Amino acid sequence: MADPRAALLPLFRAAIGAAFGAEHADTDPALRPSAHADYQVNAALALAKRLKRPPREVGQAIVAALAPNAIIERTEVAGPGFVNVWLSLGHLSRELAAVAATPGLGVVPAPRPDTVVLDYSSPNVAKEMHVGHLRSTILGDALARVLEALGHRVVRQNHLGDWGTPFGMLIEHLLDGGAEAAEHSIADLNAFYQAARQKFDADPAFAERARRRVVMLQGGDEDTLALWRRLVDASKRYFARVYTLLGIALGDADIAAESLYNPMLAEVVAELRERGLAVESDGATCVFPPGFTGREGEPQPLIVQKQDGGYGYATTDLTALRYRLRTLGATRLIYVVGAPQSPHLAMVFRAAELAGWLAPPARAEHVAFGSVLGADKKMLKTRAGDTVRLIDLLEEAVTRARAIVDDKSPELEPDERAAVARAVGIGAVKYGDLASDRVKDYVFDWARMLAFDGNTAPYLQYAHARIRSIFRKGGVPVPEPRSIALAAPSERALALAVLSFPTVVGEVGELLAPHKLCGYLYELATSFSAFYEHCPVLKAATEEERASRLALADVTARVLARGLELLGIEAPARM
Ligand code: ARG
Repeated sequence: MADPRAALLPLFRAAIGAAFGAEHADTDPALRPSAHADYQVNAALALAKRLKRPPREVGQAIVAALAPNAIIERTEVAGPGFVNVWLSLGHLSRELAAVAATPGLGVVPAPRPDTVVLDYSSPNVAKEMHVGHLRSTILGDALARVLEALGHRVVRQNHLGDWGTPFGMLIEHLLDGGAEAAEHSIADLNAFYQAARQKFDADPAFAERARRRVVMLQGGDEDTLALWRRLVDASKRYFARVYTLLGIALGDADIAAESLYNPMLAEVVAELRERGLAVESDGATCVFPPGFTGREGEPQPLIVQKQDGGYGYATTDLTALRYRLRTLGATRLIYVVGAPQSPHLAMVFRAAELAGWLAPPARAEHVAFGSVLGADKKMLKTRAGDTVRLIDLLEEAVTRARAIVDDKSPELEPDERAAVARAVGIGAVKYGDLASDRVKDYVFDWARMLAFDGNTAPYLQYAHARIRSIFRKGGVPVPEPRSIALAAPSERALALAVLSFPTVVGEVGELLAPHKLCGYLYELATSFSAFYEHCPVLKAATEEERASRLALADVTARVLARGLELLGIEAPARM
């Protein structure tokens, strides 16, 4: 229990119960960090409304009912009815020393861990990964790290789009190019896809071949499957390059592609029919989850079997969901997918509830996200108007970062500069994606992402490296965590910021909102700057003060590095 609020919570609940009766004892005191005190309690406002009493009076009553204790130094009623709280110095410095002594920095495993099945990245075979897949990959990776840090079991599922009608034309195009030319042509996946599409649209004979090929693929024809596998493998190699460059742990073992569910689709549709959920409509088989209607109020279908007997995206998603619950034992299903797929996923979740597959305690959540925009506020494109190749984008990030690092840190060896440039460039792209509320669109802006001030990865990485440099410069070892004296106000503020870390990580795991961790790390780095400005560390007045401040600096650096690690971002020791 590193966050002092964990200790304050029961004290305030007890006080509220004592002042207003046991039925109010479960009121959330709403303890928030505050610029006016260590924390501010908001409960009086909500209670006042409920009790129809003046908020300040309610605040006074809470303060009066607080039993004397070793944690709180002082309280006062402030403003319209807030209660300001100051912690006792002894408690604060003991908690901080305790946090400094644990590798988890106060983050403790959840009492009832979930089995989380996390669907993210999920690009499509024989197509360029687009920036939407980049967002899904970055967000999903950060959430996986945070949930694991909170003690949950995370099963990563890369739901590759490797099945469906486009494969007919892709395979025929592959055959047209000749077997040897194949590796060449699929090297540039987008061009390959577009060429196939063009032929499909222009040449009826080709289109017919493509249609026959789909039937062969679905019928399990060995030669066709071999060609399909070549396409899939070439794409997997490309995706693996992107993941490696991003430093993201998504391997072949995490791939659970659409084709995996192929043998189970018929059974799922049969089960939906038996339960009376799937019905015939215009020759297709559909589920109509109640509450989903089109523009004219007409019920919206989830098509589970097409007129021609084929299955589509929705059937695969229903089947995957059932598999994740039954076979993988998921208690929490998370889908990191762009916001436009929100209606689709909502219908899939509802249908799965109606089918009885998805039932509490298991729950499904769509982690929706907005688009990445160019400077023109339209979807990000290259100057020529093409889709941005992810590999190019990431390589450009590292190149731009290298120029900055060469300029700022000429004293580092070239090898180290290359490593730092990679950390800064990739970190900037990831942080740019994670730092704002994910449901909003954001503008991709190199200058802002790579800036060394503001809420950016380079700023946090630099703040971390600067703390590490204090130890290098002073030639001092990292001190043993022990009681940390917190005399100056900026020391105290920094200590409180450090102690909030576990609460923030818990919130990110609950709300699936990594931007809250970004905002927190930015505030922590800012608190450190204020502390460092006001409190000499290596030149502290006494040996004791110096040791204490070094310990505070060290624990701050560790929280920064750990926080960045949870976001999938490296924190080099020197920059
Ligand atoms: N492959 C899909 C796309 O590119 C994303 C898949 C998301 N996951 C899912 N289970 N539907 O749009």
